[in-house]
Amino acid sequence: MISNEKNVDFLVIGGGVAGLRAAIELASVGNVLVLTKDKSTESSTGYAQGGIAVAMSDEDKVSIHYDDTIKAGSGLCREDAVKVLVEQGPDLIRELISWGANFDKDGSKLSFTMEAAHSRKRVLHSHGDSTGKEIERVLINRAKSDPSIRRYDFSFTLDLIINDNRCIGATVLRGDRITNIYAKAVVLATGGAGQVFARTTNPFIATGDGIAIAYRAGAVITDMEFIQFHPTTLYSPAAPPFLLSEAMRGEGAVLKNIRGERFMPGYHDMAELASRDQVSRAILSEMVKTDAMHVYLDLTALDKDFVKNRFPLIYATCLQYDIDITEDLIPVSPAVHYIMGGVQTNLDGETNIKGLFAAGEVACTGVHGANRLASNSLLEGLVYGARSAKKALEYYMVDVPHNTDFQMSPNLTDRAALSVDLEKIRRTLRQLMWGRAGIIRCAESLGIAKKWLDKKSFIMDMPALSRRECELKNMLTVASLITDSALLRKGSVGAHYRSDFKERGDNWQSHTICQKGNDVVWRKTKHGALQ
Ligand code: FAD
Ligand code: SIN
Repeated sequence: MISNEKNVDFLVIGGGVAGLRAAIELASVGNVLVLTKDKSTESSTGYAQGGIAVAMSDEDKVSIHYDDTIKAGSGLCREDAVKVLVEQGPDLIRELISWGANFDKDGSKLSFTMEAAHSRKRVLHSHGDSTGKEIERVLINRAKSDPSIRRYDFSFTLDLIINDNRCIGATVLRGDRITNIYAKAVVLATGGAGQVFARTTNPFIATGDGIAIAYRAGAVITDMEFIQFHPTTLYSPAAPPFLLSEAMRGEGAVLKNIRGERFMPGYHDMAELASRDQVSRAILSEMVKTDAMHVYLDLTALDKDFVKNRFPLIYATCLQYDIDITEDLIPVSPAVHYIMGGVQTNLDGETNIKGLFAAGEVACTGVHGANRLASNSLLEGLVYGARSAKKALEYYMVDVPHNTDFQMSPNLTDRAALSVDLEKIRRTLRQLMWGRAGIIRCAESLGIAKKWLDKKSFIMDMPALSRRECELKNMLTVASLITDSALLRKGSVGAHYRSDFKERGDNWQSHTICQKGNDVVWRKTKHGALQ
C-alpha cells in the first residue's frame, strides 16, 4: 500500500556533505525535507580522515590547485568544472569556518598538510584525522537550527517519481510503509558505491543506490569504469579494511614490502606521493613479487608523540588490533575507495531529467576525470551541493502535478519466501567485483563478471521485501554499469587499468555513457570536455 505525503518544496536525498550543504541553501527560500537511509551521521562524509583540499595557504594558488587536479584526472577532467571547484572552494571553506568549523592550526594560522599528487601543502584537517566528522557536525547543527529543514532518517528511497520527463518526487520506504513524497525539485546526494566490492573503505550505506535509482529513471550515467582504489587500508584477518589516511604518507610514512625493502622510489619519481592508482598498482606488484597478501606502512621514523597527536583516530583504531603505529609496521593493502563516475550533471548539478539534480559522490560533474585528486571530494560536495541548490531554487514557483495514482516500479510487494539465497548472492557479487573488476582488469576477468551478472539479472524482476534486498538490486545494476563500461574502454587511463590494453587506446579522451534501454556507448568529446 502506497500512501501520499503532503508536498514539500524541495526534497534532498542524502545527508552527507553534499546533501546538507544543498539543504541549507534551499532553506533560504522554501521548506526542505532531507532523507537519509540510516542514522543521520552514517555517511562517507562522517568517516573522512585526511582532509579537505583548498588553495588558501600562503604558498598556494588557485591555479596550482587547478593544475594538480587536472593532472591527477589524466586528461579526462571537465576543465570548467575544475575551475569552478578551485575558485569557489575558498569562499565555501571560509563560510564553513564562520559556521563554527574548527580546522587544525599551527599557532594562529590554519595548518595545511600534504597528500599524494598535490604539489603544495593544501589539505585542511580537523582533530588530526577526523575532518569529515567535524564538517558533518557543523552542517548538521546548521541544518537543525533552520526551521525550514526537516529530516527523515531511516528512510530508504526506492525510486524517483517521474512525470513527463520531470522529476516530481520520490517513493520512500519508512519502516514498513511506502510513501510518495512530492517536491518541486529533487537533489540526489546519496554518495558512493564502494559496497559493490568486497574490499572497501566505504561505510555500509554506500551501495550505489542513487546511481541505480537515477538510471532506472532515465538519467545519463557516465564514466562508471573509473573506480579509485586507496593504496593503504589495514590488512588484518580480524579487521575491516580501515583507512590509513594518505596524510600519513604526506607526513613521511613509507611503504615497505614484507622483506622490509622500501619500493616506491623504484616505481615513481614522487615515490609514496605518486597518484593513488600508481601506488595501488605498485603495491599489488610487490605483493605478487613477494608472494604476500600485504605490504607495510612504516611510520617508525616519525616522532611518536607527533604521530599520536596527528592521527589520534588511526592510532586508537589500530591499537584495537594490537598494532601500535608508532612502533610496529602496519600491514596494508589497497581497497575500493571512491567512484569518479556517476549521474552526469552540468556545472549547476542539473541532470538530463528536469527537476532532478545530483551532487557529491553520486554525481559526475567531470571534476575528477579518470582519477580524483586526494581530498577534493569533500570540497566538491560543498561547492556543487550549494550550486545545485541555487539552480534548484528556480523551481520554487513551479507547480507539482500531485499524481496520486503514481505507482513505483514493482520493488516492494508481498511475495512468498524466495527460493534464492540473496545474502549469498550479495557476498558473491562483492567478491566477484573485487576479483574480476578490481585494480587490474582484462577482457577475460570482466567477461566472467559480466556472465555472472547476466545470469543473475532475473533478480531485477523479483519483488523485494526489505531495504537490504532493494540495495542488492541497486548493487547489481551498478556492478553491471561498471563492468560494461570497463569492457568498452579498451585502454588504460587513470584508475582504470587493463592488463590486456596497457596503453590509453583510441578513444581515451571520450567518456562512456550508460542510459537505460541502451548499450554502453562512447560520447566523443573534444579534449577532456563533457558536452
Ligand atoms: P555521503 O557522505 O556518503 O552521504 C550519503 C547520504 O545518502 C547518507 O546520508 C545516506 O544515508 C544517504 N543515502 C544513500 N542511499 C540512500 C537511499 N537509497 N535513500 C535515502 N538516503 C540514502 N574525501 C575527501 O575529500 N577527504 C578525505 O579525507 C576523505 N576521506 C575519506 C575516508 C573514508 C573512510 C571514506 C569512505 C571516504 C573519504 N573521502 C574523503 C571521500 C568523501 O568522504 C566522500 O566522497 C564524500 O563524503 C561523499 O559525500 P556525499 O555527500 O556525496 O555522500
Ligand atoms: C585519506 O585520508 O587518505 C582519504 C582522502 C581522500 O579520500 O580524499
